[in-house]
Amino acid sequence: MGELIMEFSWSAIQSIQSLETSRAGRFQPEWRPILLGYFGLTPGMRVLEVGCGPGTLAPYLAAGVNPGTVTAVDLDKEFIQYAEDKAHREGHTGIRYLVANAYHLPFADGLFDAAVSYTGIGILQQPRQAIREMVRVVRPGGSIAVAEAVTGQTGILFKGVDALGRQESYPGAHQYWELKDRLHHALAQKPLGLGDPDWPPEAIWGLMAEEGVINLRINAWGYVDADDDSRHPSRMARIRDNGARELELVRLVRSDPQWKNIFQVKEWDELVRLIEARQNWLVDHAAFDWEAGLSIVMAGTQGL
Ligand SMILES: C[S@@+](CC[C@H](N)C(=O)[O-])C[C@H]1O[C@@H](n2cnc3c(N)ncnc32)[C@H](O)[C@@H]1O
Repeated sequence: MGELIMEFSWSAIQSIQSLETSRAGRFQPEWRPILLGYFGLTPGMRVLEVGCGPGTLAPYLAAGVNPGTVTAVDLDKEFIQYAEDKAHREGHTGIRYLVANAYHLPFADGLFDAAVSYTGIGILQQPRQAIREMVRVVRPGGSIAVAEAVTGQTGILFKGVDALGRQESYPGAHQYWELKDRLHHALAQKPLGLGDPDWPPEAIWGLMAEEGVINLRINAWGYVDADDDSRHPSRMARIRDNGARELELVRLVRSDPQWKNIFQVKEWDELVRLIEARQNWLVDHAAFDWEAGLSIVMAGTQGL
């Protein structure tokens, strides 16, 4: 294998706030036993989380494996600093955050009872190397789990739900969807350089099998945030957050030189304006907004 590439800084492309708000709805306290079961985690385990971001999942896991511990690593220093500060502020115990590269984990073989990652593997250019490392640092018989989102634009399962958006009727809605479709079409032709095209998220379980994970099972971790969903009383804030995330993505793509030819400058400006207009319209017509997501949780046992 050639030189291992360092990934770029994730906090430059997705804000802490956007990660935190999008995860808040997915990790509800009452669902914890189910997710821990899917991950193969039980109380007392020493767990490693790879690609932990700003600490969106580690405290949720730590509370479930108590008196066990969670060691959470990420390449992005800013995320780790934020996660550490938050743990201190909120009094989380049983978590250790560390800046580390998933491709070269700074741990001895078999040190952990389990290694997990939530949307931290599918974005890597060398997912195999990261999974190999997770397998290496977990003891034989321990748990290995990778969860990846297969949602919205990337998901085949939610095509029907995607079509709902076409019912929107604010001024410019038609043009918004036309520009958005063109953008997504262009992104699909030439992705942002995330992930390995040979191993899309939904196929990573095959990679896990090749790297020595046995007894593999797949579960779905889904959520729907709809108008009549009492789990999310702060819907207006959420609608605004979704809009803000969309703006973030569009601005990111626009600032990358490889994308400058997708649209003319005035079309980019129009798309940004329409996203803002749509967001305001959604706040006034909340019945039309929804967020549906599905993650697949691929988990098994260290079988080497
Ligand atoms: C989509 S974010 C997910 C973050 C977190 N798991 C969550 O769901 O909120 C992907 C994370 O992988 C991290 N990452 C990217 N390359 C990495 C590497 N080589 N080693 C460790 N972490 C990496 C990024 O910094 C980022 O925090």
